[in-house]
Amino acid sequence: MEVIDGRLILGGVEASALAEEFGTPLFVMEESEVRARARRLKKAFANRSVKLFYAGKANPNLRLWELIGSEGFGIDCCSAGEVYLALRAGFSPDRISFTGTGLSAEEMRYLASTGVAVNLDATSQVEMYGRVAPGRAIGIRINPMVGTGSHLSCTTGGSHSKLGIPIDYARQASEAAARAGLTLRGLHVHTGSGGLDAAVMLGTARTLFELAEQFADTLEVLDLGGGLGVPHEPEDRPFDLETYARGVLALVNHWNGSHARPLEVFLEPGQYLTCEAGWMLTRVVIVKPTPEGRVFAILDSNFNHYLGTALYKSYHEFHAVSRMGAPRTRSYELVGNLCNTGDTFASDRLMPELAEGDLLGMVNAGAYGLSRSSNYNSRPIPAEVLVSEGQAKLIRRRQTYEDLLLWQE
Ligand SMILES: Cc1ncc(COP(=O)(O)O)c(C=O)c1O
Repeated sequence: MEVIDGRLILGGVEASALAEEFGTPLFVMEESEVRARARRLKKAFANRSVKLFYAGKANPNLRLWELIGSEGFGIDCCSAGEVYLALRAGFSPDRISFTGTGLSAEEMRYLASTGVAVNLDATSQVEMYGRVAPGRAIGIRINPMVGTGSHLSCTTGGSHSKLGIPIDYARQASEAAARAGLTLRGLHVHTGSGGLDAAVMLGTARTLFELAEQFADTLEVLDLGGGLGVPHEPEDRPFDLETYARGVLALVNHWNGSHARPLEVFLEPGQYLTCEAGWMLTRVVIVKPTPEGRVFAILDSNFNHYLGTALYKSYHEFHAVSRMGAPRTRSYELVGNLCNTGDTFASDRLMPELAEGDLLGMVNAGAYGLSRSSNYNSRPIPAEVLVSEGQAKLIRRRQTYEDLLLWQE
């Protein structure tokens, strides 16, 4: 992004022109930022034993997946539907990694039919997969009982978490795999999203390498998940990618130098690649002062489009896009247009004086925004555009009212 004369420019296009052309609310993805992120990850993890996957759930837009794929990334999927999309986007099964929970036999049959490698996250799921696809290789997701995450609901390691096989039961799960005629090919961890502490994540990687010693005769892959966070709050420090990468590379190099059977390391970041590349443009529809002195700015967006602010109070900066850098003189409740009080983006947020019709830009909207969108209150889901070198390309069209009829019988 750039600011010229107080106006916000995204990918060389003025944000207000994007809002005029495509309407609001609108998601805008900056191609150069996505590529820069991808290249930074590639550079940090440059090693032929490391494979990078984009966690597709962060933003399941096929044009975006193609773009990230063109940087050499595969796609990490968490559902049979995501695998279907990844295959449709042209990723070959060996460029797709799957880790999911609560799989039905039907989903397992679909996954087995695609040839995609799967990580399972319960001993009973291992047994079921053995019945559905005997003779296959699998990975198991381990809960190392340590979590990282920006909020408890995005922390997936630890005793509160339903995800993964508790590390003390790893041996049991591997025995279940052997009984079911499956080969244990991989161990997987993902301990949370939005973590900014590289040291904790490195500690988890070490734990997984230590566990791997027990299964060294069949293992081929250690998947360290995603979870590399980006700063949201003004006082957040960026994730120390280089330290984390150096630590991970030291672990894999040491393993491969000391074991007969080499390991590959998989990483599946989502937020790190696309969060900061995305903006949500939204207009102020109503400015509503209250007698107690609160001022609500009701936007044309809501938690249907970005759930994190309502679900776990994630912090996102908002800018008045035609007055970038203007003094922030008044406190606002920035809220959505749904019939819920919890539909709140930011409370007591200092902004320049707002008027109805003003265009705002919410930062860090490129991950877990549209991917969690819904039609609650029967409101159509917004469009998404990709901007690059002064050009804007529609990569997801805005839903119409007719779209709301699609699933009605
Ligand atoms: C198994 C798994 N891998 C990767 C990710 C991506 O996480 P992030 O976007 O924080 O990198 C997630 C997120 O929920 C996940 O559950």
